[in-house]
Amino acid sequence: MEYRDLGKTGIRVSCIGLGCYPISGMAGGTNWSGINDNESIKTIKHAQTLGINLLDTAEGYGDGHSERIIGKSIRENRTEYVIATKLAAKPKVPGKNLESHIKKSCEGSLARLKTDYIDIYQLHSEPNYGDMPIIVDTLQVLVDEGKIRVFGISTYETEVIQALIKLGNLSIAQIGYSLLNPVGLKGLNFALENKLGTLIRVPLAQGALTGKYFKSLEELSNVDRRYQRFNTPRISASLKKLEELTFLSETPGRTLVQAALRFVLDTPGVTSVIAGAKDRTQLEENAGAAYVRSLTEAEKQKALKIGKEANWPLPPYTKWT
Ligand SMILES: NC(=O)c1ccc[n+]([C@@H]2O[C@H](COP(=O)([O-])OP(=O)(O)OC[C@H]3O[C@@H](n4cnc5c(N)ncnc54)[C@H](OP(=O)(O)O)[C@@H]3O)[C@@H](O)[C@H]2O)c1
Repeated sequence: MEYRDLGKTGIRVSCIGLGCYPISGMAGGTNWSGINDNESIKTIKHAQTLGINLLDTAEGYGDGHSERIIGKSIRENRTEYVIATKLAAKPKVPGKNLESHIKKSCEGSLARLKTDYIDIYQLHSEPNYGDMPIIVDTLQVLVDEGKIRVFGISTYETEVIQALIKLGNLSIAQIGYSLLNPVGLKGLNFALENKLGTLIRVPLAQGALTGKYFKSLEELSNVDRRYQRFNTPRISASLKKLEELTFLSETPGRTLVQAALRFVLDTPGVTSVIAGAKDRTQLEENAGAAYVRSLTEAEKQKALKIGKEANWPLPPYTKWT
């Protein structure tokens, strides 16, 4: 496994991480189908065997279920893992104190994760500019208390990251980027310039880049969160076009999944790719991306052209309002 410096934080992470959104399963209306908690625990433990040390979750994943599963999996080997979690959103009750909301959220995550510190604490979405000073001050208090090691934000908006950096020691950006999603490039360039560590979310376009949905959605349960989204004429046409990406798996010893992850890994500014995996088999394949041959420039250009022509629609991202 290859390990990379997470920006200026002094933390080293595997270049392939484990995205722990899918292990929420059906909990809290998250609706990832085909998830088995026992297998999720084995998968998280197996990550360590494969040299994967980074786990990304959020308090909102399955209403805490993903964090709870991580807590059950890492108890004996806590220090071997770098845990990144996220603070959901501003309190829904008007007038509720933001500082106490953040501290309470942090305590909740610590309890579910069964740990006394979080390595990377991220804002799950963008706050209002007016709320930023209190948010950054509170996150710094959590650092000073040893409850979190570093903090960051999941966003595409470099102006938002810049504003938070001006107020304090924000050191991590979580950015969406893949063969089908060029939007994150601006954030990656910004991260490079500002020496931020980056976690790259949704690198397989929620499974669309694995190839199994190119021809049909037979393998996707109709209760799965992706079913309604993928089952439209626009996405069907897009998936049909994406079938042309199978040329990437013609390189011996490299699967399509691994090529898609390798593409992200080789992009300047990327620290770690947090691909979701629902079992040990998927995780092993994803870990293998750290070892396969990089895409040639010609392969990269051809794949990007196919991705562009497929016109894959990106899901909307919400704000902290
Ligand atoms: N706003 C945010 O901050 C935000 C938003 C979204 C995600 N994230 C983070 O980013 C992580 C990654 O995104 P994601 O999990 O949504 O999507 P993803 O990594 O693009 O895709 C994950 C899905 O692809 C399929 N898959 C993965 N590896 C596979 C393999 N080797 N072979 C076949 N299928 C495979 C699995 O689903 P099936 O087998 O069921 O198809 C898996 O659940 C999340 O887990 C989460 O930690 C953050």
